Amino acid sequence: MAYKVLILKGDGIGPEVVGEAVQVLKVVARRSAIDLEFEEALVGGHAIDALGTPLPDDVLKQARDSDAILLGAVGGPKWDDPGAEKRPEQALLGLRKGLELFANLRPVRTFKELVPSSPLKPDVVSGVDLVVVRELTGGIYFGQPSERRTGKSGREAVDTLVYNEAEIRRLLKAAFELALDRRRKLTSVDKANILASSRLWRELAIEMSRDFPDVRLEHQLVDAMTMHLMRRPRDFDVIVTENLFGDILTDEASVLAGSMGMLPSASLGDELNGAGCRLGLYEPIHGSAPDIAGRDEANPLAAILSAAMLLEYSLGLRAERELVEQAVAAVVHEGYRTRDIQQPGTKLVGCKAMGRLVRERIESVEPEDE
Ligand code: IPM
Ligand code: MG
Repeated sequence: MAYKVLILKGDGIGPEVVGEAVQVLKVVARRSAIDLEFEEALVGGHAIDALGTPLPDDVLKQARDSDAILLGAVGGPKWDDPGAEKRPEQALLGLRKGLELFANLRPVRTFKELVPSSPLKPDVVSGVDLVVVRELTGGIYFGQPSERRTGKSGREAVDTLVYNEAEIRRLLKAAFELALDRRRKLTSVDKANILASSRLWRELAIEMSRDFPDVRLEHQLVDAMTMHLMRRPRDFDVIVTENLFGDILTDEASVLAGSMGMLPSASLGDELNGAGCRLGLYEPIHGSAPDIAGRDEANPLAAILSAAMLLEYSLGLRAERELVEQAVAAVVHEGYRTRDIQQPGTKLVGCKAMGRLVRERIESVEPEDE
């Protein structure tokens, strides 16, 4: 039976990096005799231009009928007006919410060869290996009311931060389970000294920890956490947090890896789709980088590592995920660098060449070598 993978290249460097990631998936599929069927659709700014909406209904439906979705990035200066009624980012929020992809996994691993690319001290960033599990379909991103209005003293605006226990529990469960599979430490990040939603969050985390006696649970306040992440990032294994805190902390955490161009993500739901696997949306976290779009300069490794996560989480192919990750590590180890991670003495390559190098490393591993 064929797996259906929906390709949403999006805007900016999206098409370039996703192009390389799709080629990688094709090589893996051929090598492991897996039947992958690719479909493509428009989202983001290009969809606004061509179809008048960032996420056409039939694209959402197509996404729902797929086994996995690989997305590049959306947005760019052309569609940047934050007051515009249609914005590219709405495609992301619509896909996340529309497909109930509530768990956003953002792994941050510092390759030892890229330690010099981080502005932080080598002894701080060496050996970092953590995953942020960010809630993705609730909190202040989606709470109602969210609006501008006229109050007693003129213009005012309101956003609403609301979570119910089912939403928090399903995310915490995903995080505890991930921690069990890793170094068994879970850091729950909240603002329980101020926010009622954070106090509920903390209470539920403590309750759930009884079901996971092998996972060490700790709590951190989000403001302190921003500091701990820069001072002692190696102390963290799995970090679980609500939507907005996770948005902010993952941009901060990307500094640990040397470049945003290295960081993949997976957004997962728990619903089973046709193939009996988990529907997921996979995307690099770097965004559309319009300043370098179309110049073959972008780093495709985050998109390729996102495709690797797709292999594990939506298709159940963990060995194939590892194969791709090892190929990426090999290419980095051999000194190939795109501009964002370039250092003196390394070999500068473009987006296409980087993708080709990764594919060659995959093809050079004999199936029985694994
Ligand atoms: C992210 C991005 C998005 C978010 C934007 C583009 C809507 O910053 O995926 O982290 O805020 O979630
Ligand atoms: Mg963000």
